[in-house]
Amino acid sequence: MNILILGGGGREHALAWAVMQNPKCDRLIVAPGNAGIAAIADCAKLNIEDGAAVTAFATDNAIDFVIIGPEAPLAAGVADDLRAAGILTFGPSAAAAKLEASKAFTKEICDAAAAPTAAYGHFTDAEAARTYVRAQGAPIVVKADGLAAGKGVIVAMTEDEALAAIDDMFGGEFGEAGAEVVIEEFMEGEEASFFVLSDGQTVLPIGTAQDHKRVGEGDTGPNTGGMGAYSPAPVLTDDLAEMALDRIVRPTIAEMARRGTPYAGVLYVGLMIDKGQPRLVEYNVRFGDPECQVLMMRLGAQALDLMLAAAEGQLNEARAEWADDHAITVVLAARGYPGAYEKGTPIGGLDALPETSHQMVFHAGTIEADGKILASGGRVLNVTARGDTLQEAQARAYDMVARIDWPDGFWRRDIGWRALKK
Ligand code: AMP
Ligand code: GLY
Repeated sequence: MNILILGGGGREHALAWAVMQNPKCDRLIVAPGNAGIAAIADCAKLNIEDGAAVTAFATDNAIDFVIIGPEAPLAAGVADDLRAAGILTFGPSAAAAKLEASKAFTKEICDAAAAPTAAYGHFTDAEAARTYVRAQGAPIVVKADGLAAGKGVIVAMTEDEALAAIDDMFGGEFGEAGAEVVIEEFMEGEEASFFVLSDGQTVLPIGTAQDHKRVGEGDTGPNTGGMGAYSPAPVLTDDLAEMALDRIVRPTIAEMARRGTPYAGVLYVGLMIDKGQPRLVEYNVRFGDPECQVLMMRLGAQALDLMLAAAEGQLNEARAEWADDHAITVVLAARGYPGAYEKGTPIGGLDALPETSHQMVFHAGTIEADGKILASGGRVLNVTARGDTLQEAQARAYDMVARIDWPDGFWRRDIGWRALKK
């Protein structure tokens, strides 16, 4: 079959790498892709948030299956347009993508599904929000309702911080995304991510992961999109995963179906685990980035079969075959990230690195110019490896990192520490 993947980050490189290994894939196009993806698939320029343009492109290129990577095209309804044109698509409808695109909507679904999550208030004006914060006290979490590229959540340790966040959000700092605000109880515990596929009815777990959001070693410093990840997440034991499925995930999928907006695609379930109980932190309607890289390392070619089954409504017949292994990914970022950084700096040493089912460098933000690989974003490379143990996977990944020649890049040297400490 001819397959189109939308997106151009490390997540989409990992998806492309897994899909290409499946003999069902005859031709793969990734839009827009990046320099790493261009080495294994065709890349195309396309406005991926324009449903009509994507549908026309898919039709012109005889695409049989579209996989949508990022949240923006999902929230914009690109999956709806493709399906309306009769093109098989992996990714939720705009109505179902509200599970990521609106925090207030997710809270409403949790209420209806009786899914455990933080207590909250939902506000459309600043004065009511301030009154709520003063009544609740700190720590407290202030969230812009809409999509804010991971920046719309302020975990306020003091009341003043929370009040400032409210002013920023209603003052327009996050644009439309901040026109409504959700204020939540601060939850203690350890975070882990649980990934499931759904075809609207059936739920199939496909793995657990933890990421490192802070830029600095020991999980310190400003938040980022993620500086590394590993799978599985030891904190998410089989019992806890079963609890999360029973109390949170299946009731959510049932509630979405009951409303006539069934959820089909991958659901990223962000959990807080405390005292042996899982509570929902957030949903994302896509694979995590960089969590996807470790999941694809472990799933390999069957990822395509599972995504097809989800898109075709046949998940009840699908099974995920797991090796009892571990995968880790280390993010190499441009010096200065998540603040200002330079673009266009050259990266050497990549050609000599192994590309096997155990070791792979996924590109997140690169371009090729005159035969050289140049950094083109903040997070630039995802050095990914698997092994029988997390230690082994970690040693393999850092061995590859050491062979990359990029003076303008940096990375954390402690990815996986929380799991290795256990
Ligand atoms: P979100 O975009 O909702 O995942 O929030 C980003 C991050 O903020 C999460 O990954 C958590 O680390 C933190 N966070 C969000 N909500 C809460 C909460 N209610 N209690 C504690 N931490 C939270
Ligand atoms: N790594 C966090 C995310 O993809 O949202």
